[in-house]
Amino acid sequence: MSRRACVTGHPVAHSRSPLLHGYWLKAQGIDGTYGREDVPPETAADFYRTLAARGYVGCNVTVPNKEIAFSVLDEAEPSAAALGAANTLWLDGGRLIGANTDGDGFLANLDAEAPGWDRQRRLALVLGAGGAARAIVHALAARGFGRIAIVNRTRGRAEALAAPYPGCAGAHGFDEADALLAEADLLVNCTSLGMKGAPPLALNLAALRAEAVVTDIVYVPLRTPLLQAAAARDLRTVDGLGMLLHQGVGGFAHWFGVRPQVTQELRDLIIADLAAKGQLEA
Ligand code: ATR
Repeated sequence: MSRRACVTGHPVAHSRSPLLHGYWLKAQGIDGTYGREDVPPETAADFYRTLAARGYVGCNVTVPNKEIAFSVLDEAEPSAAALGAANTLWLDGGRLIGANTDGDGFLANLDAEAPGWDRQRRLALVLGAGGAARAIVHALAARGFGRIAIVNRTRGRAEALAAPYPGCAGAHGFDEADALLAEADLLVNCTSLGMKGAPPLALNLAALRAEAVVTDIVYVPLRTPLLQAAAARDLRTVDGLGMLLHQGVGGFAHWFGVRPQVTQELRDLIIADLAAKGQLEA
């Protein structure tokens, strides 16, 4: 029987995951489907508990359901347990297993697009303290960054995010960003600033070292004002699309039994979709 998976969240209409997994299914010649299900948080726990009865072998979970999905798992992989949030679910003998592939997707994207980006791991400057920032701080700590500075508008959220990493992560306000930029080897935007429809991220990159790498998890637009400002300074930049592509690899492997590749052809397919919708530039 054809294996079925889907992306779940609320809203979910904008998700590029069906395009991504549809490409891999076709490329691998697999008899399977990957759709989308709009699942509001009120019904999410029930939805994930009844995944098998709905005919699914697994699913992706996006905002705002990652914590809810985690709470109904029969077994959490360490990646999900560390964050209390799951973005990838699959069934194993009727048991619901969950992982969080956001951190691995983030690292794999940088490894592929900016080889050597982690040669210097003195200070990573992370802007934002939401769910995405949580996954990325965890990944950067695992990769061995000596210091992770979390800059956020709401100080308390940055403090909560930094707390599990004493001696490594610290909380800061935007007023401290300039001083931190001068020391940073990596700058990551995990806020929604710069996203289409949101205000731009007002940050002067003048203080960044010439060797610093700048990356944004926002990929609509693909070339965010932050990445454009970094490119204008000839800094190495990595856009957020690759994180989406790489985070999908683990789920596909669990659902369909093949570990797919992130290729330039796949990137071009999604970029063509962004271009068709006028989402390449800010
Ligand atoms: P996600 O789970 O996708 O990371 P989120 O939890 O809504 O999303 O987090 C969004 C991030 O963008 C937060 O760090 C948020 O800052 P606050 O914690 O202060 O809310 C940040 N953000 C959103 N709009 C912002 C704005 N206008 N100015 C500064 N930061 C903003």
